[in-house]
Amino acid sequence: MEDSVFIGGGGENYAVKQGLTLKYANRHGLVAGATGTGKSVTLQILAEGFSKAGVPVFLSDVKGDLSGIAAAGSETFKLHQAFSDRAAKIGFDDYGYEAFPVTFWDLLGEQGHPVRTTVAEMGPLLLARLLELSEAQEGILNIAFRLADEQGLPLLDLKDLQALLVWVGENRKDLALRYGAISVASVGAIQRRLLILENQGGAKLFGEPALELTDIMMTDADGRGRINILAADKLMGSPRLYATFLLWLLSELFEELPEVGDPDKPKLVFFFDEAHLLFEDAPKALVDKVEQVARLIRSKGVGVYFISQNPSDIPEDILGQLGNRIQHALRAFTARDRKQLRLAAETYRDNPRFSTEDAIREVGVGEAVTSMLMKKGVPGIVERTLIRPPSSKLGPIDPSDRKQVINTSPVAGKYETLKDRRSAYEILKQRAEKAATDAEALEAQEEDMPVHEREFNAGRRYSGTRVTRSTSRTTRKQDSFGEAMGKMVMKELSGTTGRKLVRGILGSLFKGR
Ligand SMILES: Nc1ncnc2c1ncn2[C@@H]1O[C@H](COP(=O)(O)OP(=O)(O)OP(=O)(O)O)[C@@H](O)[C@H]1O
Ligand SMILES: [Mg+2]
Repeated sequence: MEDSVFIGGGGENYAVKQGLTLKYANRHGLVAGATGTGKSVTLQILAEGFSKAGVPVFLSDVKGDLSGIAAAGSETFKLHQAFSDRAAKIGFDDYGYEAFPVTFWDLLGEQGHPVRTTVAEMGPLLLARLLELSEAQEGILNIAFRLADEQGLPLLDLKDLQALLVWVGENRKDLALRYGAISVASVGAIQRRLLILENQGGAKLFGEPALELTDIMMTDADGRGRINILAADKLMGSPRLYATFLLWLLSELFEELPEVGDPDKPKLVFFFDEAHLLFEDAPKALVDKVEQVARLIRSKGVGVYFISQNPSDIPEDILGQLGNRIQHALRAFTARDRKQLRLAAETYRDNPRFSTEDAIREVGVGEAVTSMLMKKGVPGIVERTLIRPPSSKLGPIDPSDRKQVINTSPVAGKYETLKDRRSAYEILKQRAEKAATDAEALEAQEEDMPVHEREFNAGRRYSGTRVTRSTSRTTRKQDSFGEAMGKMVMKELSGTTGRKLVRGILGSLFKGR
């Protein structure tokens, strides 16, 4: 089993070892099953197995019960005997307890290292989905990103995007000449959505230092792959944020990693838990992109494993790409359940020993109908596999142990402090301030001028309208912050060099949308 991850025992009396071939582990996979059937433990033993094989893993901990991977199992644990019996049954002779190298991450920065990205890297398509924008609103967001590109305004955090939107709103008339009508109501709607996102903790996701992908692709000195665990229990309160973040990460990986063809083992294995959230009322365009990313990311050596209660939660085009399958029991109460079960069964290569459909209904907890890719990437005949017990701790790690793991991780201290670099918000603010002081300086200068010269200048500046000093001051005061910024930026627009900000996949692969 050198070249595979040990899954459990199949065949007669569960005595035949079943493994997931590392060479085909980048051809993706599926872990499915009703609640309580063993999905989480399967995820745990897969993570352990990949780590042992030197493959880094990324997974999200939706219920907070996977953090135990960082600690060893124990002989005093209530399931010790059950685990040992199970190990003996499947011929898992060198079964023992051990802890695994884990890096904890947390979008909220509480239960792990903060994980951030920038607004620019997330890009307009994913942001629009995150903010649940209408098509018209998404159009405005696209204009805002275009302007930021042209102006060289870095969009790092939500404050930057807010400042830019204020500016877009106030200059909609000028901008309309280039981009078509921009409705105030739509700009306002986006701003309100941004506020909601902020309240959900979204503000924490955006900013710097942004996550470096190499930090989730580490191998320890002892050769084991690091298991990156994203705390997602609180995040599940904002399912959109959760799904969009994972999708962003996947697309970044796709964008940044070099082609490696078909490596002996994956460079990273990515588990997408609660995968249905990704596809729930997702527009077809988005599903197409996910399908595209899944198809192409393979050659970058990344295996993606979707975890969901029912395989029918996953669009067919994507399901068809998931070569390695672990199907725990499905319930069959209703006619619809039975139909879905039959459809699920039809996607497997039958085993003459049993009916796939019956097996999916009958398998016990911690048992599954499995089919792994074999030689030449052909799906293997379906097996009834008793899944191996975990070596790490089942259930959550103690909070103090967790803290210890966080403090001693290879990235400890790297992401903890937010750095507020000069970006769109600061630049626009500075420009507006400069515009205001320039105007003031000009006025002061004018005050020293002879009257006739002053009137001449005033006439020139205000195109024919004779302006006295006092009214010019009133005009300036009424010039809002945003308008002042607008004037500055509009002036510079004409001289733009078209400088583009670096942007992730959502600006390139997703560009043609
Ligand atoms: N491979 C296994 N070896 C030993 N025990 C297992 C195994 N798989 C599952 N179990 C037992 O079954 C319990 C439930 O499994 P698990 O938590 O993985 O279910 P689940 O499908 O993730 O449920 P949910 O949908 O509620 O999250 C475990 O706590 C454990 O006691
Ligand atoms: Mg679970």
